[in-house]
Formats: sequence, C-alpha cells, structure tokens
Amino acid sequence: MSTEPATSSDRAALELVTLAKEIASCTLCDLSSTRTQTVPGEGSPTASVVFVGEAPGAREDRTGRPFAGASGRLLDDLLASIAMRRTDVYIVNTVKCRPPDNRNPRPAEIAACAPFLERQLRQIQPRVIATLGRFALSVFAPEAQLGEVHGRPFAQTLGPILHGATLFPLYHPAAALHNGSLRPTLERDMAALGAFMAMLPRDVAGEATLRQADSGSHGSGATRGGEAE
Ligand code: URA
Repeated sequence: MSTEPATSSDRAALELVTLAKEIASCTLCDLSSTRTQTVPGEGSPTASVVFVGEAPGAREDRTGRPFAGASGRLLDDLLASIAMRRTDVYIVNTVKCRPPDNRNPRPAEIAACAPFLERQLRQIQPRVIATLGRFALSVFAPEAQLGEVHGRPFAQTLGPILHGATLFPLYHPAAALHNGSLRPTLERDMAALGAFMAMLPRDVAGEATLRQADSGSHGSGATRGGEAE
C-alpha cells in the first residue's frame, strides 16, 4: 500500500510537520539555549494568506503556539472582522524561539531563521503574505518604512522569498494595544486586506472561500512588553 500523500495539500501538511520537527531541534542561533520550546507556526497548509509576526513571547514559549496572548486575541478579532478564522490562514513568526525578556529579535537571529520561513512559504504558497510590524516587513522589504506602506499591497519587486505572493504590510497588533490611536488604522488596514483578498482571481479566492466554509472552526515599539504574559 502506498504511503504517498494523496494531494498537494496533504503533501504541504506533511512537509510542514517535518519542518516543525526540524525547527524543534534547531540550534542555529542563541535563542535555542533560552527557549522552552519552539513555535513553528500553525494554520491551514493551503492558506491563501500567511500572517508573519515578530517573535514568540512568554505565553507562546510555554504553549508552542503563535499569538497565544493579548495580541493573539486582537488578531482573532481582526480576522473575524474579515470573516476569517485562524484555521483559514497560516500564522508564523520571523523567529521561532522566544527572545529572552521579550527583547526584539536581532538581525542575525532573523537571518538564521529565515530559511525556515522561506520553506514554510514555499509549501503553503499563499497568495498574500501579511506582515505584522516592522520586523516581519524587514524580512521581505528591508528598505520599506511601515508608516508609509501599511494597509495596501506592496508593489515593488521583491526577492525570491515571496514566491509570487503579494506582500501586504500591517501594523503589529501589539503596537495597537500599546498605542490605542493605531487601532483604527489597523482595523482599516485589515478591512483593506479583506477587500484585496476578495478581489483575487476567482479560482484562487473562490477556493479560499470554500475552505473557509468547510473548516467549521475555530509592531511594535522598542520592546515587546505587551507580550510579556
Ligand atoms: N505572539 C507571536 O507569536 N508573535 C508576535 O509577534 C507577538 C505575539
């Protein structure tokens, strides 16, 4: 009997599990020595949109799940505002291990982890990569200023890591929690992302809509103190 995965979606799911195992034993940077566990990311292996956050915080380090705290609750609300749930999308971070004391991830740590992110994106093949905050944006568009490019598709030609996806920069939910005046902007930007997703070519967006119907489920400043839960 063949043990080959039946569909490309099964294959992607399997590859993502394999990758998560690889991530769990990674020692490529010093974050591996202080983590409790890795946070590889989670969601639909065939998601049309991947959200890329910054780094796991204390709660993520404990649970192994991305956006497990207050930022995650806001992200859930923002997703609901465009009729999406976590199981419809994929959520990852620029680094898969918690930086000690919730400090910002360092460029060398982001660079060490980038091949994992790249391989995740290659498996999922999303139509849209929505970055959350300036660290995630810097992975794809190092020169871009979040304040200038948020809330719309980023049009410039970008490197191979995108695999044909459109970059859609957003503020980080933690930034909106720290600075309430950013929240309406983030809500508007999320609505713009929803509208953009709805305009994607029918075969792709239609497929995403079907998956949503079927699934039956369920920034930051100088420090990431808002995530220290
Ligand atoms: N939780 C995450 O997983 N990532 C962030 O960037 C913030 C909170």
